[in-house]
Amino acid sequence: MRRPAWRLVQLCMVCGLCSLLYALAQRGSGNSEAQEPAAASTAVWRGALGQRRRCKDFSLSFWNPYWMLPTGVCGKNCFWEAAFRYNPPEKHELDLDPMHLAVVACGNRLEETVTMLKSALLFSIKPLTFHIFAEDQLHSDFSTILNRWGFSQKFKYTLYPISFPSENAAEWRKLFKPCASQRLFLPLILKDVDSLLYVDTDILFLRSVDDIWSFLNEFNSTQIAAMAPEHEEPRIGWYNRFARHPYYGKTGINSGVMLMNMTRIRRKHFKNDMTTVRLHWGEMLMPLLKKYKLNITWGDQDLLNIIFSHNPESLYVFPCQWNYRPDHCIYGSNCNEAEDGIFILHGNRGVYHDNKQPAFRAVYEALRNFSFGDDVIHSLLHPLELELQKTEHTYCGRIHKLFTKQLTKSIHDFYTRQSNVR
Ligand SMILES: *[C@@H]1O[C@H](CO)[C@@H](O)[C@H](O)[C@H]1NC(C)=O
Ligand SMILES: *[C@@H]1O[C@H](CO)[C@@H](O)[C@H](O)[C@H]1NC(C)=O
Ligand SMILES: *[C@@H]1O[C@H](CO)[C@@H](O)[C@H](O)[C@H]1NC(C)=O
Ligand SMILES: *[C@@H]1O[C@H](CO)[C@@H](O)[C@H](O)[C@H]1NC(C)=O
Repeated sequence: MRRPAWRLVQLCMVCGLCSLLYALAQRGSGNSEAQEPAAASTAVWRGALGQRRRCKDFSLSFWNPYWMLPTGVCGKNCFWEAAFRYNPPEKHELDLDPMHLAVVACGNRLEETVTMLKSALLFSIKPLTFHIFAEDQLHSDFSTILNRWGFSQKFKYTLYPISFPSENAAEWRKLFKPCASQRLFLPLILKDVDSLLYVDTDILFLRSVDDIWSFLNEFNSTQIAAMAPEHEEPRIGWYNRFARHPYYGKTGINSGVMLMNMTRIRRKHFKNDMTTVRLHWGEMLMPLLKKYKLNITWGDQDLLNIIFSHNPESLYVFPCQWNYRPDHCIYGSNCNEAEDGIFILHGNRGVYHDNKQPAFRAVYEALRNFSFGDDVIHSLLHPLELELQKTEHTYCGRIHKLFTKQLTKSIHDFYTRQSNVR
C-alpha cells in the first residue's frame, strides 16, 4: 500500500512546482505594463477611477486566489489589487452626494459628447450623475458606450428625450434648432435635482469636476448661477459691438459652462423688462422669447444674457480658464487667469473637427484616443505634448504649455490619491 501514497506525494510535488512557475509568470507579466493584452482594456479602474486601479471582476476566494486569475486580467500590481478586492465597495463613496452634469446632444455630437463625459470622469473624485438629453436615435449608442465603461459605483446616467413644456413645445421647436433651447428648461424638467453643471458637448475637463462644483458653496445669498464672461477683450467682444438686446456686464456671458443652483432658480422671482411684476423662471421664458426673437443671434445664450442683465446680483462670474475658448488665444493671449493653466477647454465653432485651431483639436483627439485602463501619462499626456509641439505656428499653439499645465497637475494628483489609498 506504499505505492499509491508515493504517487500522491509525486503528484503534489508536480502540482506545487506548476503553481510556483505559474505564479512567477503571472507576476512577471503583471510588471510589463506595455504589453497589456486586449483583455486588459476591459479591466477598467472600477469604482474609484481617481483612487485605485481594479481588475476585471472575478470572484476571489481561497480556491480562486489572485495568482490563479487568467493572464491579462490585471494590469500592474495584481497582488495589491487582489488584496483590495476583498473589501466591499467603500460605503462612504457611494453615499456621497453625487455631482450632477447635464449635456444636450443632437445630430452628430455622439463622439464629442462621449469624449466630454470621459474627461469628466477621468479626474473627478465624488461620484457623478450624468443627465444626457439626446435625440432618440442616439440613445442606444450612448447606452452601449457608457455601459461598456462599467465603473458603476463612480457614475450613473439617465438618457432623456429632447422635450419642451407642452403648451409651447411647437413654438420652441420652431424658433430654435430643436436642441438649442433645451438647457433653459433643465430647472423645470429635473425637478428633483438641487444643483447642476450644464456643459456644451464641446467641453473638455482638464481638472476635476469637483473643483468647479465647489463654486456652488461660494455663492452668496443672492447668487443662483455661475458662468464665465463671453470675452475678456472688449475690442473683439461680440455683445458689446453687435447685440440688439441687453446683455450681462461689459461683454456678456458665455453659457457653455453653466453652474446652477436650480432650487434657487425655481424659487426666485426675476426682474424683467416685460412687466413690472417679477416672474418665475418658467413664466418668464416664453414672453422673453416673444419679445426678443427677432433680435437674438445666439439663441438661448442671448436669453440668459437678457435675464442676468436685469438680475446681475444673481450671477457668480468665474474666470476664463474655466471656459477657455479659441477667442482667448486666436488674436494673441487675452485670458490672464489661464497663466495658471486651462481648467476647462471649450472648442466652440467646431475647432475639434477642422484644422483652424490645431491646438484645440490635439487635446480633443488625445482624450478621444484615450481608453479607461490606459496609462494616463504614456497614452494621454505624452502623445498630446508631441501633437501640441506641431502647432507652434499658430497663436494658440504658441502658448500650448497652458493647455497641458493643469492636465499635468491633475495627473499628478490622480497618482497621489491612488498611492494614498494603497
Ligand atoms: C431690436 O433691435 C432693433 C434694432 O436695433 C431695436 O430698435 C429694437 O428696440 C430691438 N427690440 C427689442 C425688443 O429690444
Ligand atoms: C442651493 O440652494 C438651496 C437654497 O438656498 C440650498 O439649500 C442648497 O444647499 C444649495 N445647494 C448647494 C449645492 O449649495
Ligand atoms: C452677491 O454677489 C454679487 C456679485 O458680486 C453682488 O452683486 C450681490 O450684491 C451679492 N449679494 C449679496 C447679498 O451680498
Ligand atoms: C489619435 O489617433 C489618431 C489615429 O487614430 C492619430 O492620428 C492622432 O495622432 C492621435 N492623436 C493624439 C493626440 O494622440
